[in-house]
Amino acid sequence: MIFTELTVGDLTLKNRVVMPPMCMYTANNDGKVLPFHLVHYGTRAQGGVGLIIVEATAVEPRGRITDHDLGIWDDEQIEGLRNLVDIIHSFGAKMALQIAHAGRKSEVGPTVSSSPLVFNSQYTEPISLSLEKIDQVTKAFGEGARRAHLAGFDMVEIHGAHGYLINQFLSPMINKRDDEYGFKPRFGIKFLQGVITAVKQNFPGPVALRVSAESYEPDGLHPEDYIKILQILQSNPETQIDLLDVSSGGVTPSMPPRPLKAMYQMPFAETIKKNSSIPILSGGLITTFQQSNEILLSNKADLVWLGRELLRNPYWVLKAANEWHVKMDFPIQYKRAEPYSP
Ligand SMILES: Cc1cc2nc3c(=O)[nH]c(=O)nc-3n(C[C@H](O)[C@H](O)[C@H](O)COP(=O)(O)O)c2cc1C
Repeated sequence: MIFTELTVGDLTLKNRVVMPPMCMYTANNDGKVLPFHLVHYGTRAQGGVGLIIVEATAVEPRGRITDHDLGIWDDEQIEGLRNLVDIIHSFGAKMALQIAHAGRKSEVGPTVSSSPLVFNSQYTEPISLSLEKIDQVTKAFGEGARRAHLAGFDMVEIHGAHGYLINQFLSPMINKRDDEYGFKPRFGIKFLQGVITAVKQNFPGPVALRVSAESYEPDGLHPEDYIKILQILQSNPETQIDLLDVSSGGVTPSMPPRPLKAMYQMPFAETIKKNSSIPILSGGLITTFQQSNEILLSNKADLVWLGRELLRNPYWVLKAANEWHVKMDFPIQYKRAEPYSP
């Protein structure tokens, strides 16, 4: 159930509730942590979340979605992140950093991608990355991981989902290259392999990968493709990951069928979990203890994220523990307000 520990790599999480990465678009142009971030993440840690994955944090200035994203492209950004990690650790939560590059979905630009295809008319046409530039971006992911380690993060999550740069190489809908970074026969995995290798060389802790397991495009990638991608990654110690974070969509403007229901992404997670041996994290529109527990008990995933629910209700975990009579330490300062359980 959600209040049991889980060990990922060498990292033990106190429960199975995860705050997924959510861009707050609140940083200044220098990408540094501000007081808002300390309060925002600190409150969820105090509220009992086991693992907090900090929002998409750009490995290059042109890899930001907006000029209000957090950044990890400069050593100057380490200090603020270290302060953030220290605060969260003091509340007993573990901390991951999502390292990201928006590629053609950047509003900052100049935009780059696997091929010169625009996402939609709101974006500028991206420049196709040369082999030399691919090498530079790969190194930027490695440098981001090095800085994440210096900042004290317990885990790094590589953002391979939602149509951002790594996804722009993986997807046959976007990647039209005919060199070794092209798709063969279904997906362009070489860039992802290079990024994971660079990250692992620079980060000693567990490495997670977030993917859009379903692209909602008949010719795009589906969970079965990601089973194969995972098999390829896990067959080589240099590219082995410790956790797969299963999300969906954002690859092209194509959307999942509406209306969206709670657990709509769980079939994708379940399909991959049945064919893999590493822990799977997933979620989507989860709001209740029953939903999250049922995901774990039916073995659809090992960890569950609650995104927007934790924005509404940072004390969700403490409240669920109280309702379900699970002993959990209430913040000592708030003891006099601890809900009464008969
Ligand atoms: C405000 C907001 C910002 C988000 N930013 C990111 C992000 O930085 N990286 C990412 O991978 N997903 C991002 N997402 C997607 C969430 O991580 C999560 O997958 C999504 O909200 C679905 O979960 P939920 O229904 O529990 O909110 C964002 C979602 C929201 C609502």
